[in-house]
Amino acid sequence: MTAQLIDGNALSRQLRADVTARVTALKARGITPGLAVILVGENAASQVYVRNKVKACEDTGMHSVLERWPATMTEAELLARVDALNADASIHGILVQLPLPAHIDAQKVIEAISPAKDVDGFHIASAGALMTGMPGFWPCTPYGCMKMLESIGYELKGKHAVVIGRSNIVGKPMALMLLQQNATVTICHSGTKDLKAMTLQADVIVAAVGKRNVLTADMVKPGAVVLDVGMNRNDEGKLCGDVDFEGVKEVAGYVTPVPGGVGPMTITMLMVNTLESAERLVA
Ligand code: GUN
Repeated sequence: MTAQLIDGNALSRQLRADVTARVTALKARGITPGLAVILVGENAASQVYVRNKVKACEDTGMHSVLERWPATMTEAELLARVDALNADASIHGILVQLPLPAHIDAQKVIEAISPAKDVDGFHIASAGALMTGMPGFWPCTPYGCMKMLESIGYELKGKHAVVIGRSNIVGKPMALMLLQQNATVTICHSGTKDLKAMTLQADVIVAAVGKRNVLTADMVKPGAVVLDVGMNRNDEGKLCGDVDFEGVKEVAGYVTPVPGGVGPMTITMLMVNTLESAERLVA
């Protein structure tokens, strides 16, 4: 193996220790940061994710509320819950776990969240703030990727970053964050004609498609930094990313593992956003 691992668990531990210290300081001033998580339905993966989010709140000393509702919940009922949490002074962050049941318009629900409590960074006000370089909440997964690059002291200015995937949650905000750090950014997607020709030019590659083996060793320039956002299962049922880790680790300069890479960083940045939402009250 030639690549160095960027260990998301180790970096998360460091960042969460800082969050815990800042939570303690804020509590001394009479404010306990609070996160509300709403889960609608029984999606198995979502249940694991929300449990981990609530546990991260407990570990860092934050207040958390987990609301579980049946899949039969109506859109109007969910909007009413969001309204109530918008008005609840003990709650500084609201997260509605996606996906929602098909009869609920997810974008409408996201837009109902107060931008001041939009710790997922999915509201159009948050997206607009990111695009224009104004203060606002950054989506947790690409934010975590930026922290991973920062942790290795990576200078993005003048580098070519290739983002594979164009979702509103990862690909698009990722590209904007890299651009803000003066990288030259290419976004690739299912309509890209020659993905390999693009990735072979990249100094940094972020794979965020949700499909195994999107990036293989022959597609990576020696020494490139590879961040794997994917969360898939292989034929044996084992967790794996979008990157062929075994091959790519022989070519890349740095690579993130799955599990233990970007995944824990997503939750860590949710803690950071929730804390900072509460800190704004005393700033
Ligand atoms: N579903 C999968 N990832 C996420 C996330 O980061 N936030 C929310 N709200 N739902 C998700």
